[in-house]
Amino acid sequence: MLSETTKKSTQVVKFQKQARQVPTKNHSALKTPRLLLRGFETRDREQLFQLLNNWDVIRYMATPPYPYTHAAAAEYIQTSLDNHATTHPGIFAVTRAYDGALMGGCQIMPDGPPGHNTSAARLAYWLGRPYWGQGYVPEAAAAIITHAFQVWKVNVVTAYVHLSNNASCRVLEKIGFVDAGLVPPPALKGRRRGTASMHRYVLDRLAWRGTHQR
Ligand SMILES: CC(C)(COP(=O)(O)OP(=O)(O)OC[C@H]1O[C@@H](n2cnc3c(N)ncnc32)[C@H](O)[C@@H]1OP(=O)(O)O)[C@@H](O)C(=O)NCCC(=O)NCCS
Repeated sequence: MLSETTKKSTQVVKFQKQARQVPTKNHSALKTPRLLLRGFETRDREQLFQLLNNWDVIRYMATPPYPYTHAAAAEYIQTSLDNHATTHPGIFAVTRAYDGALMGGCQIMPDGPPGHNTSAARLAYWLGRPYWGQGYVPEAAAAIITHAFQVWKVNVVTAYVHLSNNASCRVLEKIGFVDAGLVPPPALKGRRRGTASMHRYVLDRLAWRGTHQR
């Protein structure tokens, strides 16, 4: 029987190998075995609204309003369109490769004030309720952090998780992040909820390379 440590490191290698299949020449879409990660498009508005207008999904997310609105969905889609017009797009719709279903979102953004360099980045993600528990976010996030290390050349990726969000902590641990302790919540433009301490998870280039090159 595999020990817990062996099981965990086997999973990390599996996710990193999947992420290797991501094309790095096309900056606007990333492929994984089961997913196409692309920019949000205007046609996503209704499904984005349906998926995010759910307290189970939104309760641990800092910025979307609740109840969610069509206007908020349209605003987020515009932000993604603008983001994909840059050389470093980081806001991705998580879609199922075989039928194109929009399932959620995953984003990586520079961690700091606008205009600063991209040596540090922050990861965030969510998935509509029907799609939980199938490993989609680890698959998407592994591809996106690989993209950030390889293309953006970041040195460290950070993610903040609400104290009670065990599923999210588990996602990060499965893809190699380490819990660096509790911190006050980061200042985020448009933050609407959550003032309690959060887990700060980090993955640096050295640790990522260690799992990626195995
Ligand atoms: C947290 C979240 C991103 C996990 O994504 P996911 O693709 O479902 O992740 P996984 O399938 O790898 O499951 C992760 C863990 O969640 C738990 N989990 C699995 N199915 C679950 C379910 N139906 N309900 C609750 N938790 C479940 C398991 O502990 C699993 O760990 P395991 O693989 O070791 O068993 C997703 O639940 C979500 O979008 N939640 C709402 C938004 C959110 O919290 N975003 C993160 C903000 S930091």
